[in-house]
Amino acid sequence: MRIRGLEIRVFEGVYPPSEDTFLLMDAVSGEKAERGLELCSGTGAVGLSIASRVGGMVAVDLNPVAAMNTLANYRRNGMQVHVVVGDLFSPIRGEFDLIMMNPPYLPDGDGTPADLSWSGGASGRAIIDRFISEVGDFLSPGGRAYMLQSSLNGIVESIERAESEGLDAKVVGRRDFEFESLVVIRMERMGQGSTRIWKS
Ligand SMILES: C[S@@+](CC[C@H](N)C(=O)[O-])C[C@H]1O[C@@H](n2cnc3c(N)ncnc32)[C@H](O)[C@@H]1O
Repeated sequence: MRIRGLEIRVFEGVYPPSEDTFLLMDAVSGEKAERGLELCSGTGAVGLSIASRVGGMVAVDLNPVAAMNTLANYRRNGMQVHVVVGDLFSPIRGEFDLIMMNPPYLPDGDGTPADLSWSGGASGRAIIDRFISEVGDFLSPGGRAYMLQSSLNGIVESIERAESEGLDAKVVGRRDFEFESLVVIRMERMGQGSTRIWKS
């Protein structure tokens, strides 16, 4: 398929670029960075959409087929990426100016992972909560993280958790549907371009 000037192939069983993918693409569209990281990369479409303005891009997906799909799409579009098969931040070392993630975020009932692409555990927050608690360790000074999530699993909860981790967090993109809203939450370490006023 052709998406915003990019040639994107979708391998069998890999999450096809959808409304959430496009919303995250929109949110990062004005970014540029020395070091970029896309977690849960799938086809790689989000990182690829700004790869020309990122010095070095790393992509991670737990599904080896998705990781291969990411690599194939970067090659197909003449871009470089370092792809790793792994669980969220576990294979990652160092700091990044730009971190992006469209995770599996849908509640899946009893918590038994039904599908790696969309199952976010019983509450839908399994990957989201891990991301929020770990992302600060991988942000460079001034670095920005963009995370997609749904209103089905607690937008305010995410912002409060991020703040308790020492991050400024705000919604920078939103799309409303009949049964849910999708949002993009941008996070950065507190005190870096932040307007937060500390109260004692
Ligand atoms: C909703 S899809 C998003 C794919 C792509 N980023 C997009 O926006 O179209 C979620 C992706 O997360 C991957 N994934 C699930 N659990 C993961 C984990 N623990 N660590 C890394 N990737 C994971 C899945 O394999 C899937 O490719």
